Amino acid sequence: MKVVVIGTGFVGVVSAAVFASFGNDVVGIDIDPTKIEKLRRGEVPFFEPGLSELLVSEQTAGRLSFTTDYSSAVTDAEVCIIAVGTPSGASGRADLTYVYAACESLAPYLKENAVVVVKSTVPPGTLQSVRERIAAHTKVSFSVASVPEFLREGTAVADTLHPDRVVIGVQEEYAFERLATLHEPLKAPIVRVVPESAQMGKYAANSYLALRIMFINQIADLCEHTGADIDEVIGIIGKDARIGSHYWYPGPGYGGSCFPKDVKEIAEYSKQVGETETLFITLHQLNEARLPRLFKQWTRLVGGWEHKKVAVLGLSFKPETDDLREAPSLKVIPRLLELGATVVGYDPQAVAVAQRYFGEKSGLSFTEGLSEATADADVIIVLTEWKEITSFAFPATTNKKVFFIDTRNQFSTQKLQELGYIYQGIGKGKSRV
Ligand code: UGA
Repeated sequence: MKVVVIGTGFVGVVSAAVFASFGNDVVGIDIDPTKIEKLRRGEVPFFEPGLSELLVSEQTAGRLSFTTDYSSAVTDAEVCIIAVGTPSGASGRADLTYVYAACESLAPYLKENAVVVVKSTVPPGTLQSVRERIAAHTKVSFSVASVPEFLREGTAVADTLHPDRVVIGVQEEYAFERLATLHEPLKAPIVRVVPESAQMGKYAANSYLALRIMFINQIADLCEHTGADIDEVIGIIGKDARIGSHYWYPGPGYGGSCFPKDVKEIAEYSKQVGETETLFITLHQLNEARLPRLFKQWTRLVGGWEHKKVAVLGLSFKPETDDLREAPSLKVIPRLLELGATVVGYDPQAVAVAQRYFGEKSGLSFTEGLSEATADADVIIVLTEWKEITSFAFPATTNKKVFFIDTRNQFSTQKLQELGYIYQGIGKGKSRV
């Protein structure tokens, strides 16, 4: 099948490469010529395990190519997938500028009975405007569909190849048949719905997962008042088959390019349709308040930050990515510097991206090695659970107090205490402060 993927960001590149690997003829389009040049050379502009290899093999096999030219790519395409960014606008509402721009750019070249798929996360009801914008620039008949994406950064290729379900929101039968054929090699259950359900389903899935994280974070906070251990509590509730113990670890609040944005957007959407007292509004506020709350606790624990050397380990928002969007490091590091600490940042992949985010700052440096980052540190803060960090053999402390703040509960309290550290996890028994 001839497929065009518009937008070569995270979702676009992964989808294009995976559909090509199924034997389709795929062209990725982007308006940024530098990005396209890089992709042609097989360079992925971000770190994602396994993606670069797939990109190179599909281009070499001649099934995948990249261009900035809509006319040559769209003319023959049976399916056009829009996978451009939908950042949150100032009000928190999804900014659909790029989606509409893609519609207007592809419309004049659309083939008769082409199917235009919106993969970008968009509020329910958007497909009607997509249809109108395309119709204004073409005379051919076409169909529009909503096929939301559920992949996670860091495991994007595997998630795309083995999804729990494929959701196809579409009205026309021929369009459904074509999209079902395109996704058939995935051997995943196909859920056919109306487009509005597909869009609402995406927001619902992300906001439910975000809610789950916030819920366990709050239970963890309560544990610190009672002497209970959050891991033991998860062990108890997880045995209830209705609840389960997966996707359920406490931490510094959810981050990344999706949950914070999608929760904000569904909160904004709720207000817009007159539902002014929703869970989503509160959820967003609670997540925003999470790190400042933890930071206060850490400040009490270490007795102030002035002249302390702090090793911040894990700069990306989660392991296996160099993405810093809404990462805890972006909030923690500036606050530490403000309060007089010297900060050394370490991350297995995200140091270069972090350097771009932070620029030159007095008191802040980055290292390529864990030993170097933690040498002489007064405080070690683990913000992301990279394997390199969680499996590192932290040496015994020598003759000074060293605080170890583990925001992902990845380390054994007892072991670190035996090594001489003053350990602080999340919800691990009665707080010392
Ligand atoms: C998330 C969803 O998991 C995907 O299904 C969805 O497709 C994607 O958003 C999207 O909308 O594009 P992602 O943001 O890559 O994927 O990362 P997650 O692994 O879900 O983690 C999100 C945040 O929650 C991270 O900050 C992570 O540290 C945090 N988290 C996750 C926890 O604090 N506890 C958990 O148990 C799980």
